[in-house]
Amino acid sequence: MGGADLVIASNRGPLSFSLDSSGEPVAAGSAGGLAGALHPLLAGSGATWVACAMSEADRRAADAGLMSQPGLDLVTVQPDPDTYAMAYDVVSNSTLWFCHHHLFDLVRRPRSGRRWSEAWDAYRAVNTSFASTVADVANEGATVLIQDYHLCLVPGLLAKQRPDLKTVHFTHTPFADPNIFRVLPTSSGRELLTGMAAATACGFHTARWEAAYLACCKDMAIDPGPTFVSPLGPNQPHLEARAASEACRAARARIDALVGDRQVVVRVDRVEPSKNLLRGFWAFDEFLETHPEWRGRVVFLALGYTSRESLAEYLAYGTEVEHAVTRVNERWGTEDWRPVILDVADDPDRSFAALTRYDVLLVNAVRDGLNLVAKEGPLVNDNDGVLVLSREAGAFEELQDAALAVNPFDVADTADVLAEALAMAAGERARRAGHLRDIVMKRQAGDWLADLLAAAGS
Ligand code: F6P
Repeated sequence: MGGADLVIASNRGPLSFSLDSSGEPVAAGSAGGLAGALHPLLAGSGATWVACAMSEADRRAADAGLMSQPGLDLVTVQPDPDTYAMAYDVVSNSTLWFCHHHLFDLVRRPRSGRRWSEAWDAYRAVNTSFASTVADVANEGATVLIQDYHLCLVPGLLAKQRPDLKTVHFTHTPFADPNIFRVLPTSSGRELLTGMAAATACGFHTARWEAAYLACCKDMAIDPGPTFVSPLGPNQPHLEARAASEACRAARARIDALVGDRQVVVRVDRVEPSKNLLRGFWAFDEFLETHPEWRGRVVFLALGYTSRESLAEYLAYGTEVEHAVTRVNERWGTEDWRPVILDVADDPDRSFAALTRYDVLLVNAVRDGLNLVAKEGPLVNDNDGVLVLSREAGAFEELQDAALAVNPFDVADTADVLAEALAMAAGERARRAGHLRDIVMKRQAGDWLADLLAAAGS
């Protein structure tokens, strides 16, 4: 035993790899999400970060010693690939993600057949590997910050194995309401909550998700343990350096050339059912139908990257998104105007540059733990852009006074709010943009980390 006083545990680590044509691992695109946010925060801190090798490329990179970063000790958990696929695809992504985001089509899913217990065993096995690895690297009395729904059992396992450790479990997704949590097989739901409740404290981005966790525990008569609320904030110095970089300037110039003097609606997300891309495009279609004066004068730039392509739901969703875009473009496009430009080729510089340029940023998630883009956009945008924000995103709690609220399920409402945002007078745009920036700057990523350490009692 020995080594680290601060250990981070997350499924996805700061580095991910793909294989080049000769089978050699090469660094892959953006990590996004919490790994992308935590990396600049922890770089150089001397902390140990325990994360999974999620692919063959990651495994080869780890074996070749490529999983390394200056000032950060990266430790890779390498579960057997079949076990990992069951834990990640079946339990974490197809079940827990859908549960916490209220995405189940309850007529058909979840199915929880005999395969479920095998999948749950796999989830338990991956959590067990994480707990053993953490137990191996953590110094006596160390603080362990455990991230997200992939690792709910780790606090309970560590409490037995290493009761000296101070553990915080932080949930980056929403937390399911008890009536939805109840659809999980009861013994799994119970094990999951009991695992989390064994942490020194459990954290959430908003009071709403904390209340849902407490309600689920109450429903199962489980003592929830101490909880706290701490919304993640952006990393301002890191974002400002990126905005000033040559790569961002070049990407911005390409966007400017593409859109000309048209107004620009931007969205930047993973292609993911919870992000609600479909209703965004349906709303833009309705907006162009009901506001003919805007035809030819606005471009919807939808950027991001595909994810979880091993899941049928995600592949089908991606196809529907493409069809929705094609429909808008065929219906309204002209020889010199393509209304929607969808690019999910994972070009982080282009996505970032779009955030500096938007007139309107659309974040219409059906349900979202926080949505960091809703905070990063206003910080780097130099165009007094308007934020249209889903009232179901965790970030809404902090940003609602300066954003335009949208009901993400209501396409007509979304179309109306887009129209309001695009037509907003310059003075009001500037006032709201300034207000957003002030709110966002008040809480930075470092404040979030400090809250987690305080919750651990460190
Ligand atoms: O929102 C919580 C989160 O863990 C984010 O980090 C990330 O966007 C996502 O969920 C996980 O994505 P992935 O399965 O690609 O790691």
